[in-house]
Amino acid sequence: MSTTEEQASSSTSDVDKPPKISKNQQRKQKRYALLLERRKLKRKEEKVKQKQRRLEKLKQSEDQSLLTRHGLKSNRMENSSCHIRICIDCRYDSMMNDKDISSLQKQIAFCYSANRRSSTPCQFYITNINGQLEKRLETNCAKNWDIYLRNEPLENVFPHDDILYLTSESENVLSSTEPLDERTVYVIGGIVDHNARKGLCYQLALANKWRHARLPIDEFIKLNTRRVLACNHVMEILLNYIQLGDWKKAFEQNIPKRKQKVIIDSDDDIPKTVSPNHPEDPKPCAEVHERRGEVIEAETPPPIDL
Ligand SMILES: C[S@@+](CC[C@H](N)C(=O)[O-])C[C@H]1O[C@@H](n2cnc3c(N)ncnc32)[C@H](O)[C@@H]1O
Repeated sequence: MSTTEEQASSSTSDVDKPPKISKNQQRKQKRYALLLERRKLKRKEEKVKQKQRRLEKLKQSEDQSLLTRHGLKSNRMENSSCHIRICIDCRYDSMMNDKDISSLQKQIAFCYSANRRSSTPCQFYITNINGQLEKRLETNCAKNWDIYLRNEPLENVFPHDDILYLTSESENVLSSTEPLDERTVYVIGGIVDHNARKGLCYQLALANKWRHARLPIDEFIKLNTRRVLACNHVMEILLNYIQLGDWKKAFEQNIPKRKQKVIIDSDDDIPKTVSPNHPEDPKPCAEVHERRGEVIEAETPPPIDL
């Protein structure tokens, strides 16, 4: 073999060889792979548990007729005694990647299922359905669902004064004692952002001068994490509160257990100050939360451009 051939063969075999890494790096890689494996397993277990909890809840549901197909068929929004409107605002399509859109679509399906199985389904809307989400909902045959699907934006579907945007960053808190209001549309931001866009919905509500409020979580329950919940958890909490009139139970039953810390006794911490009512309503539908004289202010989130 000539010298040039030898050089060529040695350089190709160098390319084939995996790059040398130190023992320390090898250990780190092993540890990381193990961590990923454990995380996957934990997620799987969590999903199985969640499924069991859902089934359990369904079995405990007051109205057992809802467990049958026939019972479900007649359980429609138009027959419901509940006229409270809940809307998922899906204007954030272009801010999400494929995976997040797929998660959102699943969350919407959970919301729909929870409403269909509620003994008093609320009037459930989805607005701004466009782009990728629209295609996914079509594949899911959402057109046949008992739901109000709208391509138009939220502000074209409902009068300005009816809108109350739910956002965990709001300084206002939904009343912990009053029932939800039939003249208000409770809007959930249809976005999966893994906490990357803090304050997005809050800024949107401010920019449009819509009423806004957060759920009264702090009065009843301590969380291990921030109080930002997924759309389906917010929907399930609202539906549960509509039925039971008990926030504490609604939170305990619907906030994932891994997020919950200790339950506080609700009696000491009832919000006192009243704020953003429905413009025609002297009765509060949301309150500014004052605890022992101290007003809890929301952090000012970064400005956004929608
Ligand atoms: C995953 S969160 C979206 C987080 C997003 N960064 C934002 O700006 O709100 C989905 C939606 O659930 C509702 N939501 C979540 N946690 C809430 C809370 N603690 N109080 C009121 N609404 C909440 C809000 O409508 C929010 O837009």
